Amino acid sequence: MTGLFITLEGGDGSGKSTQSQALAAWLRDAGRTVLETREPGGTDLGVELREIILHRRGYIAPRAEALLYAADRAHHIATLVRPALERGEVVLQDRYLDSSVAYQGAGRVLAPTEVRDLSLWATEGLLPHLTVLLDLDPELGRARLDASRTRYDRLEAEQAEFHERVRQGYLALAADEPDRWLVLDASLPVDELQSSIRDRVSHLLD
Ligand code: TYD
Repeated sequence: MTGLFITLEGGDGSGKSTQSQALAAWLRDAGRTVLETREPGGTDLGVELREIILHRRGYIAPRAEALLYAADRAHHIATLVRPALERGEVVLQDRYLDSSVAYQGAGRVLAPTEVRDLSLWATEGLLPHLTVLLDLDPELGRARLDASRTRYDRLEAEQAEFHERVRQGYLALAADEPDRWLVLDASLPVDELQSSIRDRVSHLLD
């Protein structure tokens, strides 16, 4: 595999899509072919699964939720992401397996290693070259969402404690694998965050 696989992680309202778009523009200016994608919902099947996972009314058991995200991921990686990486492209992905470990593991209190193993099975072991964590106090993330949203999905609607567990889950993952992660304070100005990300990505492009 010759491409570069970069994922963005963080709580809701942490600014992942803003950073991803700016990074994609910079990479394209440098002559790279970039695939911008996301989970859940990066494929046609994923769009249907996303609607179920995020907007279906009523309870979904935590293991069922984890399996639905894993199904979306398996199809997305097999049909879109791996082929792009094999063509040598840069894949910029909003959320990946670390979202499952943080939300379904730390958030829903499933065993983090089991959730990770499920995703690794789903993707035949694909790990990103770099994962950017936009770390933010969930209360600040919530305030940003409130300014731009009228409807919340099933995860966003969870209690503050859930989002604090997610945040701590992410920080623990980053501490376990410091070479793969770039942890940034998402309350910093957008331009400052972008230049830290470009700095790190430029080392991976050589
Ligand atoms: P996202 O697409 O980032 O939401 P939005 O487009 O509304 O900003 O993600 C949707 C939600 O799904 C988000 O709250 C995080 C959650 N999620 C998980 O719980 N597990 C996962 O594996 C993934 C990929 C997302």
